[in-house]
Amino acid sequence: MRNASAAGPARPGRREHWSSRLAFVLAATGSAVGLGNIWKFPYITGTNGGGWFVLIYLVAVLAVALPIMVAEILLGRAAQRSPVGAFRAYSRPGSPWLGVGWLGVAAGFVILSYYSVVAGWTLHYAWLSLRGFGGLEAGQIRETFAELYADPALNLFWHAVFMALTIGIVAAGVHRGVERATRILMPVLLGMLLVLLVRAAGGEGFGRALDFVFGLRAGQLTPAGVLEALGHSFFTLSLGMGAMLTYGSYLRARDDLVATSVAVAGLDTAVSLMACLVIFPIIFSAGLAPGVGPGLVFVSLPIAFGQMPGGAFWAALFFLLLAVAALTSTISLLEVVVSHLMDEYRMRRRRAALGAGLATLLLGVPSAMSGGSALFGAGFQRLTEPLFGAGQGKNWFDLLDYLASNWMLPLGGLGIALFVAWRVGGEAREQAFKAGSRFARLYWAWVALLRYVVPAGVGAVFLHAIGVL
Ligand code: TRP
Repeated sequence: MRNASAAGPARPGRREHWSSRLAFVLAATGSAVGLGNIWKFPYITGTNGGGWFVLIYLVAVLAVALPIMVAEILLGRAAQRSPVGAFRAYSRPGSPWLGVGWLGVAAGFVILSYYSVVAGWTLHYAWLSLRGFGGLEAGQIRETFAELYADPALNLFWHAVFMALTIGIVAAGVHRGVERATRILMPVLLGMLLVLLVRAAGGEGFGRALDFVFGLRAGQLTPAGVLEALGHSFFTLSLGMGAMLTYGSYLRARDDLVATSVAVAGLDTAVSLMACLVIFPIIFSAGLAPGVGPGLVFVSLPIAFGQMPGGAFWAALFFLLLAVAALTSTISLLEVVVSHLMDEYRMRRRRAALGAGLATLLLGVPSAMSGGSALFGAGFQRLTEPLFGAGQGKNWFDLLDYLASNWMLPLGGLGIALFVAWRVGGEAREQAFKAGSRFARLYWAWVALLRYVVPAGVGAVFLHAIGVL
């Protein structure tokens, strides 16, 4: 069933489908694997002291994130619609549940606007790497990052480049765009990661990195670390805003939903762990600290690359890897909005992709300017002080990230889990779960996790994020 796809980008009303289960796994893994895996996971593993944090994270993926992923994909596949339409399909007219769908579409738009700015940094760094970080002092490399952050024109330029790539791929369609791009980019990504890993495994610092990531040492993990692991399990699998739901809506009825979810979660986790085993040996052998936070990849790593023989090559490879990972994620973020416009307003794909993409480009302008503009930087910090306390104000960029990661995604994830667990009719849910699945036996375990464990876990993350817990 090649569907309408062979005839080019779908017209309104004719839904495209992935051409195979592998195509879905690659696209969904592409969405999941992103800055969250290669930038954020290593640095939060670093700040939380490794070992126990990684273990808790693995438990969170299995007990909380994976059940939500199955729920999202199941809802999308059963409804054959993007988030709002999917909620509509299983609720009464005008039901407040539709709000969860709308929240998802809004979150996609908001996240993409600043995610693309950070993704732009990876392109800038790939470019800088080619010129080499060698010969630069640590202080100069710190300065490089500070200068980039404070330069609105440079940020805007790379943000626009990244959005153009994303728009181009999404406009071409599920088949000719998303599927074709991920079929090329995902093997490239895994290949680059493996090359970097092999280099790391043969070099010094690898043993120490292994011990840091997998060694369980007493007394390192804090309750805040547990909640951070839980929250991240969620973000890294692209859950809580209907991205997986939308990709699931392009899945054919006969494909094994649970097996594919397990594959996506497994691949995503493997990439995160491999990223740690690439980054930490480099950090350790340069005598740097693992717990520096967000600067781990954009400051510490370039310092280490600068000291390494062949460092320019390895640095360029690493930042290209990061850019590719980010691109397959921005595609999925834009696809949610585009799919929504096509489903709800019968818009054509090209027009939807261009319109939504340009709107996102605009919404990203203040983010691109947050480090270097009085208004969106310091101005917003002052403006938001009443909300966050004196000296705690957030600039535009940080504010959007805060709203999306701490409010929209946990609320959306909770909404999706509760909806599928309690509102979708039992029979329809059971049938959708079991159709063509090798894992039909696990149905009740999944429902139990979704009903009790997921709300408790996501609820705790949410309360912590808003400062109640
Ligand atoms: N999962 C991606 C990452 O780890 C980011 C991402 C893409 C995302 N699509 C999403 C996060 C949807 C939440 C929701 O970088």
